[in-house]
Amino acid sequence: MKQNLNNKVVWITGASSGIGEAIAIEMAKEGAKLVLTARSEAKLQALKAQCDEYTKGAMVLPMDLYKIETFSGAAKQVVDKFGRIDMLINNAGISQRALTREADLDIDRKVMELNFFSPVALTKAVLPYMIKQKSGHIAITSSIVGKFGFPLRSAYSSSKHAVIGFFDSLRAEEDDLDVTIIIPGRVQSNISVNAIGKDGKADGNMDPGQANGMPADVCAKTVVKALKNKRKEILVGNKELLMVHIRRFLPRLYYKMAKTVAAR
Ligand SMILES: NC(=O)c1ccc[n+]([C@@H]2O[C@H](COP(=O)([O-])OP(=O)(O)OC[C@H]3O[C@@H](n4cnc5c(N)ncnc54)[C@H](OP(=O)(O)O)[C@@H]3O)[C@@H](O)[C@H]2O)c1
Repeated sequence: MKQNLNNKVVWITGASSGIGEAIAIEMAKEGAKLVLTARSEAKLQALKAQCDEYTKGAMVLPMDLYKIETFSGAAKQVVDKFGRIDMLINNAGISQRALTREADLDIDRKVMELNFFSPVALTKAVLPYMIKQKSGHIAITSSIVGKFGFPLRSAYSSSKHAVIGFFDSLRAEEDDLDVTIIIPGRVQSNISVNAIGKDGKADGNMDPGQANGMPADVCAKTVVKALKNKRKEILVGNKELLMVHIRRFLPRLYYKMAKTVAAR
């Protein structure tokens, strides 16, 4: 069943950059009332100005998504302004570039906290409103490495597997909710630059795979179409998506490929 996004209140996390920023622009073109969240207020204000060209009145709601204790207050702020929350797109995330044996447990926790516990907590802050409304749509950005493991990404891959389990379960529990799991392959963004290295600091490098990935605006168009169509799961990317099918149907080939891939 297709939905019209015009005037829908759509809250996007990770809106200051990459995939989230591009989704916000596509959503503004659809006439959605946007709530834009990330840490960088300046980038969100610049994005709001861009979105205003299509639909005016986006709310800039800067948040550090590690601060879970602020989430119920933030959800109330959105409802106080717009009266409801129709869609939450849990998109903010952080990647990793570190071997398991070199990465301190703190790195695993840092990645899990932002990529798993944070969207879980924000979803729990928003759920009471959606349950009261008897409608709502929650999306989560996982990754192709949420479908298979990949070198230098053990924590990241775990977090992206974990959200698939959580949000599949939520969908099965709630008849009035729609849940969409977004599974991107390689998309042009700052994800590799911001990825946590073995020293716990940002890696700082743009991966060639990332630089040559699908442009974020192309990804966002596909994502927004999937959300309009209330798709339960969507793969978006280029030929790297093949690996998902290889892992599922030809596991022995996947085991070999995962060992020999020139990961960075
Ligand atoms: N690009 C890809 O190839 C790819 C592939 C698969 C999955 N993904 C997933 O797609 C999602 C978006 O990533 P992207 O590729 O667009 O990367 P990106 O350009 O690095 O964007 C990450 C976003 O998350 C926000 N963020 C990071 N830490 C935050 C925090 N503590 N509090 C609030 N917001 C925070 C950032 O904003 P601030 O820095 O302003 O806070 C930024 O808006 C992530 O979940 C990522 O794992 C990406």
